[in-house]
Parts: sequence; structure tokens; C-alpha cells
Amino acid sequence: MELFEAIQRRRTTNGPFLPDPVSIEHQRILVELAAMAPSHFNSQPWRFVLVDDRGIIEEVARISGESMRRLMEEGTFWKRYRPYFRFSEEEMDERGDGIHIDQLPKALKPFRRQIFSNTGQALMNRLGVPKILAEDNRKLVAGSPLLLAVLLDKTEYRPGELSAFYSIFGMGAAVENIWLATAQLGMGMQFVSTPMEFPEKWEEIKGLLKVPEDLELMAVYRLGYLPQGQRRPTIDWSSQHRKRLSQYVFRNTCAAPTEDASDEVFAGKREGMIE
Ligand SMILES: Cc1cc2nc3c(=O)[nH]c(=O)nc-3n(C[C@H](O)[C@H](O)[C@H](O)COP(=O)(O)O)c2cc1C
Repeated sequence: MELFEAIQRRRTTNGPFLPDPVSIEHQRILVELAAMAPSHFNSQPWRFVLVDDRGIIEEVARISGESMRRLMEEGTFWKRYRPYFRFSEEEMDERGDGIHIDQLPKALKPFRRQIFSNTGQALMNRLGVPKILAEDNRKLVAGSPLLLAVLLDKTEYRPGELSAFYSIFGMGAAVENIWLATAQLGMGMQFVSTPMEFPEKWEEIKGLLKVPEDLELMAVYRLGYLPQGQRRPTIDWSSQHRKRLSQYVFRNTCAAPTEDASDEVFAGKREGMIE
């Protein structure tokens, strides 16, 4: 696969993976490519934990599901992330960012309009929607053959200092290398992010992974091989929409947005978008 094609095909996988284990060779390719990323002074501040132990995966899945239930039940999710939701295709096309609310899981669809209100929240709770979403989430994580934890070396990751910013920057590049490689290997990848929303849940994950004092746990992903002909998942928080050039690129100074070219090389060419 060509690099440009891999970049276009990289997606967040919100659906299930095949149960097949990720081969040791592929696991090694992922982490070796991660290490090719740039880092400040070649410090390579990233560390990875490859988790293929069923017991640990099941435990992470349980914590992730529980966190999802709380996020939904307490309404934290909707309060915290409201600015990212769009209510129509027109709004999506106009802004080019965020998540269209039509991608909501089926259980939430009837509440599309009230989702951000207190009454909507109370109704969803009465109907047990948070529990359904929690179980969906648990199953997705539990059904993943591989988890990947990403950590930073705390001698480099010193919050409040430039070094922390540099470390996060390098880590992002390393994770993107992995993400692009998954596209070539027929694999998918998704953040397991709900436990990050609750400090005590994140601590539980750190305990499971035996994270030592000198490392900071930054993110956990689930990975696996993709099934053929995937159906749209119950929870689809990803979006293929992208801003137009004039919305994010300037020429020479920030005062002059670039023009949108009618023949943008890659516009609309991401998988599943207009041919
Ligand atoms: C810092 C960061 C946090 C993200 N958090 C989540 C998340 O919590 N759950 C999830 O499913 N996707 C998460 N994503 C993926 C985005 O939702 C996704 O990249 C975006 O919607 C575009 O979709 P795509 O990755 O398929 O192109 C995150 C991505 C980044 C870079």
C-alpha cells in the first residue's frame, strides 16, 4: 500500500474485530515503526505495553464499560462534549468538523433532540440506556485481541514544562505511525478512553498494567484485524468529514486564508467518501 493511500485509509475503528490474535510479527512491526517517529533530542520518551493476556483485557473491558455507564448516567459525556456534535448534514458540511449526531447508537436515536437536556437525560436513565451502552462498550473492548498502552517517561514528561509538550508531540507522531501501519496490515485501532474520564478508573488500569512511578500512562488503544464488510457500529464516534483548506490553512500570515482549490488532490477521497 502506498503511503498516501494508507494515510487516507486510516480510520478509527468503532466496531468489532476478528477474534484472531494479532501475530507477534505484526505486533513487532507496529512498535518498531512507532520508534521511527521524531522526538526531541532523539529522546524517544514513549513506552508501550502490548497486552494480549485475556484476563487483563477482560478487566480493562470491565473498567471501560463501567466508566461508559457513569459517563452516560451522570450526563458528563454530553455536558463535556456537546460542542463537537452537529445536528444536520448541512451543519457538518459547513463546519467540516465534529461528529454528526445521526451516528448515535440505536439506543440513543429516539432522544436525538433531547439528549443534551436534563429531561432527556432522566428519560434515558429510566430506560436503561447507559447500561446498554456500557455493555456494548465492554463487549467491544473484551472482544479485542490486543490492547496497546502508551506511556511517557516522566523524566521527559514534566507537565508545565516545554519538555512535556515535546514529549506529547513525539508520542503523537509515534502513535500515528502505528495507526498508519494498522491500515497496511488490515487492522483497526480505537482509543479506550472512557476510563480516562474518571481518575480512580485510570488508576485501576495503571494497577492492572503495573505502571511504575517513573512512567505516566497516557492512552490505551484496542487493536485487531478487521472483518470484511463491516456494518456501521452501534457507537460511531468517528467522522470522515474534514475542513476545507480555507478553514485551516493560511498563506504567509494568519490574516490570509488559502483559497479552496476546486481540484484538491485528496478532498473527498477518503475511504467511503465520494469517489
Ligand atoms: C486525542 C484524541 C482523542 C480521541 N478520543 C477518542 C475516543 O475517546 N474514542 C474514540 O472512539 N475515538 C477517539 N478519537 C478518534 C476521533 O474520534 C477520530 O479520529 C475522528 O472522529 C476522525 O475519525 P477517523 O479517525 O476515523 O478519521 C480520538 C482521537 C484523538 C486524536
